[in-house]
Amino acid sequence: MKMKKTVSIVGAGNVGEHVASLLLLRNIANVKMFDIPRQVDEKVFEPVKGKALDMKQMLSAMDIDAKVEGYTVTPKGEGYEPLEGSDIVIITAGFPRRPGMSREDLLEANIKIISVIAERIKKFAPDAIVVVVTNPVDVMTYVTYKLLGVPKNRVVGMAGVLDSARFKTFISEELMVSPKDIHAYVIGGHGDEMVPLISISNVGGIPLKDLLPKDRLEKIVERTRFGGGEIVNLMGTSAYYAPAAAIVDMIEAFVQNSKRILPCSVYLDGEAGDYYGVQGFCVGVPVKLGSNGVEEVIKVPMIEEEREMWKRSVESVKKTVEVAEAILSERSSRE
Ligand code: APR
Repeated sequence: MKMKKTVSIVGAGNVGEHVASLLLLRNIANVKMFDIPRQVDEKVFEPVKGKALDMKQMLSAMDIDAKVEGYTVTPKGEGYEPLEGSDIVIITAGFPRRPGMSREDLLEANIKIISVIAERIKKFAPDAIVVVVTNPVDVMTYVTYKLLGVPKNRVVGMAGVLDSARFKTFISEELMVSPKDIHAYVIGGHGDEMVPLISISNVGGIPLKDLLPKDRLEKIVERTRFGGGEIVNLMGTSAYYAPAAAIVDMIEAFVQNSKRILPCSVYLDGEAGDYYGVQGFCVGVPVKLGSNGVEEVIKVPMIEEEREMWKRSVESVKKTVEVAEAILSERSSRE
């Protein structure tokens, strides 16, 4: 009998808990969730344990045979022993940007969190595939890869699947067609300079640029670029349904060894790095996902205009990677 895989989720906040619930409801894997305690006045709560218990009862109510557990950990890294046996670890722990916080402050705070988590993954689940979600995702994927020191096929950031899903949603509404029949990729850094690949996007095989006038297409691209911000403005917090679904899409490809081609943030070097003009950091490109993690980097064709956009996107990721490098080396010189 095929053993069900175990997926651990570090950071059971909005995104993490929705990933857990989707994985369980679709019976894709058993789940372990890890999060820190929450103190309200004098009382210390352990929400992650409560969420796991609630999910167990949800599974009973729905007659689903899957396992879920919640573990309280400390920011210092205590309590991570149950990571042992994880086939996949998803990192959704982190701070959102708070008022008065610069991007650099956020970067530093999230690097601190990721450093502890990466060290624990190294100790308790050294062979796991690691999916990074914490923002800024391309940089955090790079930091995790560096700290783990594992082969590059085993560390992957989630962004492109979400950006592409947003792109497809808007195309689908505009053309009144099912998103299932839309092939559209968004690559590059996960930010305002992401690169929607219009030249190869198609609906039922017909090129997108033949189906929509330029101005309509531009509006859709613009809405995709700021798709995250649109939701923050409506909800007062960042999105979690679509991000969770995008993560699950990737997890399913690993678990089922389905060789899906999905845009993900991966470490680029060598020949693929030459093709993309990126050597030694992580950016979103289409890759083949299977049981070995990232099994191939796809060299997608780009027209001149897209290449220029790509270069700008890469440049902006590179700048943040340099800031992260400085934070990392300052941290290691302090130790
Ligand atoms: N160790 C473990 N968990 C932590 C730690 C830590 N040191 N610090 C924070 N967390 C947990 C929080 O307690 C919280 O439950 O991480 C979780 C983050 O959840 P949310 O604040 O709800 O954020 P969410 O919307 O889920 O986004 C998670 O994904 O898209 C990115 O930018 C987003 O970096 C963010 C991440």
